[in-house]
Amino acid sequence: MSELRASGLGVAYDGTVAVHPLDLHVPGGRMLSVTGPSGAGKSSLLWALARALRPAEVSGGVSVDGVVLGDRDSAARAGVVLVPQRNGLGSTLSAEENVLVPLLALGVPAHEAQERVEVSLARVGLGEFGRHLVDQLSGGQQQRVALARAFALRPRVLLADESTSDLDAANRGLMLAALREEAARGAAVVLATHDPEAAAETDATLALDEGVATWVGAF
Ligand SMILES: Nc1ncnc2c1ncn2[C@@H]1O[C@H](COP(=O)(O)OP(=O)(O)OP(=O)(O)O)[C@@H](O)[C@H]1O
Ligand SMILES: [Mg+2]
Repeated sequence: MSELRASGLGVAYDGTVAVHPLDLHVPGGRMLSVTGPSGAGKSSLLWALARALRPAEVSGGVSVDGVVLGDRDSAARAGVVLVPQRNGLGSTLSAEENVLVPLLALGVPAHEAQERVEVSLARVGLGEFGRHLVDQLSGGQQQRVALARAFALRPRVLLADESTSDLDAANRGLMLAALREEAARGAAVVLATHDPEAAAETDATLALDEGVATWVGAF
């Protein structure tokens, strides 16, 4: 089981505070939702957890399994995977290629990588869509490709930013179940969402309002 910890983690852009410093702890096996209105600081918090913001924008520390994360690369090496709000897919690549490229970049052998691509796309219901260009997929299908890419990486910490926002109820349920499976595998899962029904599926909630965090429930 992995463990994500942050202490005094805050975000400010050019001196304007987006997330007031907060402490956070997500044990492996559990799901945390981050909720709050548009502009509350949800994405900023996830990017800070992934060490993906500029150092000048972030205060405080993040660790995974006791190892302090220095920068975005060290976060990736520690198994932190961010699914960005706008998916971050290469639009002129196929669904398969989008899932495959980060695996190869991480040094997963080609044969195993190809197998993980197929399993992951099937898991999000897109087994037949591997060869389709991302540009030619619907918004919800693109969102599921982004999740498949994250699952294929077998994250220790999975940070999903509004990853069910474009989905119909059936697919939303399937993707929340898949996120739950990632937690069951041992990952610490964080889901930013404005959807109360998605938040209700998680084990605890960090509610953000103008960058100020309130815990709802605890692990
Ligand atoms: N790169 C940036 N530079 C300057 N300000 C930013 C930047 N990114 C976000 N902000 C500001 O920080 C605040 C929090 O934004 P953030 O994207 O974290 O909110 P959010 O809760 O994810 O909103 P949404 O629900 O719309 O996705 C907002 O006021 C936003 O304008
Ligand atoms: Mg956001």
